[in-house]
Amino acid sequence: MGQPVRVPAMGQPPGAARRLRGLARVWPRFLSAAEEAALGRELEPLLSRQRYQFDHWDGAIQGFRETERGRWGAASRAALERAAAAAFPPAPPPLPLVHVLDLHPGGHVGPHVDSVKFCGCTIAGLSLLSASVLRLVSCRDPHEWLELLLEPGSLYVLRGAARYDFTHEILRDEESFFGGRRVPRGRRLSLILRNAPQPP
Ligand code: OGA
Ligand code: MN
Repeated sequence: MGQPVRVPAMGQPPGAARRLRGLARVWPRFLSAAEEAALGRELEPLLSRQRYQFDHWDGAIQGFRETERGRWGAASRAALERAAAAAFPPAPPPLPLVHVLDLHPGGHVGPHVDSVKFCGCTIAGLSLLSASVLRLVSCRDPHEWLELLLEPGSLYVLRGAARYDFTHEILRDEESFFGGRRVPRGRRLSLILRNAPQPP
């Protein structure tokens, strides 16, 4: 399968936007400046101990370091609870451990679908530090795609078809455009909430 045909200045084909209405959403400025600062302060000492990895075994993520965290200070916890309430259905709620991904300015998240073994119907992400572009591409038809602009402080949610039937990726700096506008990709932190797979 070739690369999706993409001409940034032409905007997004309407099919994916229609199909994913309500299933791929962004809340810009979801976090207050104080919440962003609190989350960053709490994570920095955990992350700065590690080196960035450029050799992930399956190649999906390059130039990253990561951790999981379940205990938070009051300000961070309040922000995460607000994000969970905004993004998740009543059941199943997000898992207690938050996945923290620190992407190097030269790193990226390649196209993938989160494993159904470890993740249920909803994925939500808070973004800190650098803006980035999240691209969704239909697993059935690579011409069907949608891009979301993730500014620092934003919250996104992927559920249903956006979670199962489209790959998602975070574009590398050289490819980081949104509607024709360049979105320089510096270091980016994300806090990703996922719910548990539904029992069969
Ligand atoms: C992942 C992923 C996206 C993000 O780690 O599976 O898709 O927002 N991350 O960092
Ligand atoms: Mn993912």
